[in-house]
Amino acid sequence: MNIILLGPPGAGKGTQARRLVDERGFVQLSTGDMLRAARKSGTEMGLIVADVMDRGELVTDEIVIGLIREQLDLKPDVPGFIFDGFPRTLAQADALEDLLNGMGRPLGAVIEMRVDDDALVARVTGRFTCASCGAVYHDTNHPTEQEGVCDECGGTEFTRREDDTEEALRRRLMEYYKKTSPLIGYYYAKGMLSTVDGLAEITAVARAIADLVGDASSDRSAARAL
Ligand code: AP5
Repeated sequence: MNIILLGPPGAGKGTQARRLVDERGFVQLSTGDMLRAARKSGTEMGLIVADVMDRGELVTDEIVIGLIREQLDLKPDVPGFIFDGFPRTLAQADALEDLLNGMGRPLGAVIEMRVDDDALVARVTGRFTCASCGAVYHDTNHPTEQEGVCDECGGTEFTRREDDTEEALRRRLMEYYKKTSPLIGYYYAKGMLSTVDGLAEITAVARAIADLVGDASSDRSAARAL
């Protein structure tokens, strides 16, 4: 079962992907996290992408498709992949389809997380992340239970992303509407699109996604049985 979480910056893709990893043993493939890791380690590619990411623009298809290909090759036997922040262009969507079909593990579902743009500024400017395990929090919507201590790993260091400013968010949103939102129509036309209300509480969104993932798995089992 392979799932795409689709939505604008701050829609909650990373938050929900981590829950699917914990609850279902899926593997999260976040191109944003991969690019940030490359940037932190100072690789040549990391240096190339740093400016692009800070500007809120998209990194080239060639780079991100290469990153995804590498990860799929490394983990052929997992229960499923959750694609978080990928694909973001039609070229990336086509490449993903080819890669998954080549593995004999086609895409199971595409879940659009629909949110109101006005909510996104508050979400991204209030976001912080555990520096040890990557758990994602929010100053008001989702703070740690004990101030300054990560609920998941007990870590005490947190980071904020360089591109989580209001100005960068506006550019990221522009990129989303120009290049990524056409994927909603693309997957709808393929009969693969489902939508959840991303404005609901985190646990309610998780329940809606769990229902869809359950449904998509049973559809696939039924199709296999025919
Ligand atoms: P990436 O890291 O993918 O960022 P993004 O898509 O902009 O999405 P975010 O990570 O900002 O948001 P999210 O939807 O995961 O929300 P989250 O769960 O954290 O990409 C960064 C950059 O890398 C791009 O701009 C681009 O340059 C490059 N890049 C990456 N992939 C690429 C690709 N495929 N092609 C080209 N370039 C690429 O939640 C946000 C906040 O809201 C958190 O604080 C959270 O606690 C809170 N929250 C979550 N859900 C809820 C809820 N239901 N209610 C209230 N608060 C909530």
